[in-house]
Amino acid sequence: MRQSSLVVVANRLPLDDSAAPDGACEWRRSPGGLASALHAILQQTPATWIGWNGGIDSAPVLPDIGTLRIRPIALSEKELRGYYEGFANSTLWPLYHDAVEQPVFHRDWFQTYRDVNRRFAEAAAEVAEPGAAIWVQDYHLQLVPGLLRELRPDVLIGFFLHVPFPPPELFMQLPRRTELLTGMLGADLVGLQRPQAAHNVAQLATKLLGAQATDDQITLDGRVVRTGAFPVSIDVSEMAALAARPDVVKRAAKMRADLGQPRRVLLSVDRLDYTKGIEHRLTAYSELLRDGRVKVRDTVMVQVAVPSRERVDSYRVLRDRIEGEVGRINGEYGRVGEPAIHYLNQPFDRADLAALYLTADLMVVTPLRDGMNLVAKEYVAARADGTGALVLSEFAGAAAEFEHAFLVNPHDVDGLKATLLSAMGAEPADLRRRMRAMREHLSGHDILAWARAYLTALDHTGRLAAGLLR
Ligand code: ADP
Ligand code: G6P
Repeated sequence: MRQSSLVVVANRLPLDDSAAPDGACEWRRSPGGLASALHAILQQTPATWIGWNGGIDSAPVLPDIGTLRIRPIALSEKELRGYYEGFANSTLWPLYHDAVEQPVFHRDWFQTYRDVNRRFAEAAAEVAEPGAAIWVQDYHLQLVPGLLRELRPDVLIGFFLHVPFPPPELFMQLPRRTELLTGMLGADLVGLQRPQAAHNVAQLATKLLGAQATDDQITLDGRVVRTGAFPVSIDVSEMAALAARPDVVKRAAKMRADLGQPRRVLLSVDRLDYTKGIEHRLTAYSELLRDGRVKVRDTVMVQVAVPSRERVDSYRVLRDRIEGEVGRINGEYGRVGEPAIHYLNQPFDRADLAALYLTADLMVVTPLRDGMNLVAKEYVAARADGTGALVLSEFAGAAAEFEHAFLVNPHDVDGLKATLLSAMGAEPADLRRRMRAMREHLSGHDILAWARAYLTALDHTGRLAAGLLR
């Protein structure tokens, strides 16, 4: 078994084996922010990535991606139900996102979650060199840091949570709260998206574990765990380069023509998830159409909603509701050959996404709660000419960095309508000023800066950060 000095453990691998239309297995980039972010930095770093490949019961041998070794973990049907669809995505995901959907507590799920976490921990322990660093990602694997500390006391253990860490009053609802918190605090460094999340962890460590805790350091059983905010980002230069490619620019022009050369294009790009506020956005948009403030003749909305977690009930129900609502809005306000909303329930490659971002005059990102939201950052990275407006929910982590966006509370439909109208009516000079400020911030805070900041905090010698190659 070849060993690595940096091991990344995440539920998702950067590649996903989705079936091609002819039934053959086809590898493509995995959906979601975690895979997008880490794929960008690790493909040229000598490291091993341990994760699930998206299938059931199979762990095919996967080719390396550049210098990155891939080590798949197979999940059985029972494990998928209990660990991934159950405890991770029906208990923790809704609870960590302000319980915008009711979290489900099911005792058997936790047992499976613990068993699968142990398997990930054992796989990581096996491939880590003596003195290596193991970087555990996200809510699926919250017990892994604690398990690793027992298995491999010689390694540095990092943990990064891509989603929000909830306030104590929500976390306290979890039946296995003490075990989950202790597991996460098995790490040497717990990284979060926002300072508030680090504050929540400190409060809980004091309350549940009797630890001595500040917002950046927790002392537990004589051991110090550091915590801190490390807002994740994107590969800014990759998106900028894509958006500047002549074929992508051409594709964007064609998209606009195919949309009927409207005066304005509004775009939203989400995983089809109840945290993304898609329904609130549709309500606001349909009311603008009803009130005659927006005309289908000159404005089109494009909603990309890539299917996600399709076997989880709440996601199935959401998809039905959204598709019903899009159908209603198009039925009521569309015209022959001119739908009010273009709804695309499919994955796109990076170049197509870049072309979509170039086409959009308004990017509408309205999650009810989101750890970061990389789509908002991708849009800003694509808009080199300084045009375009970003309408952004205050409840996305990205809002803390993009104060020049048109910030909005998506729960307030009237406020959302008013913000959409003011973004549509903004002066070009105002839009340029806002976009310039956001682009300036982003260029100094890309994914490489994020990984460097985290890995330098984990390992003060700078050895890990130096391994991140470009
Ligand atoms: P989340 O991690 O909750 O899905 P983010 O906005 O942080 O939300 O990240 C979503 C990532 O998935 C982005 O990198 C985005 O480009 C990508 N993505 C979203 N929709 C699609 C799609 N239809 N096809 C391909 N990639 C997509
Ligand atoms: C969010 C989570 C990631 C997850 C992604 C896609 O970004 O933080 O951990 O990979 O959503 O979800 P999925 O369930 O398809 O992996």
